[in-house]
Amino acid sequence: MKLSVIGTGYVGLVTGTCLAESGNDVICMDIDARKIGLLNTGSVPIYEPGLEELIKRNVVHERLSFTTDMAASVKNSDIIFIAVGTPPGENGSADLKYVLGAAREIGRHMNGYKVIINKSTVPVGTADKVKAAVASKTRFKFDVVSNPEFLKEGAAIDDFMKPDRVVIGADGPKAALLMQ
Ligand SMILES: NC(=O)c1ccc[n+]([C@@H]2O[C@H](COP(=O)([O-])OP(=O)(O)OC[C@H]3O[C@@H](n4cnc5c(N)ncnc54)[C@H](O)[C@@H]3O)[C@@H](O)[C@H]2O)c1
Repeated sequence: MKLSVIGTGYVGLVTGTCLAESGNDVICMDIDARKIGLLNTGSVPIYEPGLEELIKRNVVHERLSFTTDMAASVKNSDIIFIAVGTPPGENGSADLKYVLGAAREIGRHMNGYKVIINKSTVPVGTADKVKAAVASKTRFKFDVVSNPEFLKEGAAIDDFMKPDRVVIGADGPKAALLMQ
């Protein structure tokens, strides 16, 4: 499958790399040009046991690439993960500005049906906000899926590849089947 991951931080980089290792074509996108520059020259901005080797292998096999180009990432993917940060706001609740910003950008560049999957840690009800944000920018059909990540730093690859649970929240059978 053709996938992209918006936000190439801890969760996005591990998610994208592991999904490429599973045989998918993955584009990891980030607005941080420095981070993407490092990744494109073979450096890994975080330390996670086994990650560098997995990235190298999947880049060589052309299943994994890194870009700052949101338009190309969205247009060339059927499934788009959102894995941007959700820093705690003043009252401790997750600040959704990056998630909703990414959702609007995805909507702006859509060229057909997409499944948009939120991996960031967000409160209940966020999928409806993501839906509204995407819908405000596109006329194409799409589904929004919740698929929260439970990986732990230091054991992220194992946690992702052999999870003790996978939580998927989808509105309809089409997106649920794709997620399976
Ligand atoms: N790190 C963990 O151990 C962990 C585990 C489970 C869940 N989470 C959750 O996953 C989410 C991501 O966490 P993280 O640790 O990977 O964060 P991070 O800060 O390492 O990475 C987030 C990335 O998103 C990028 N970004 C922000 N806005 C963007 C946009 N509009 N388009 C493209 N890229 C954008 C940033 O530049 C950054 O590189 C958070 O909600 C976090 O709570 C984290």
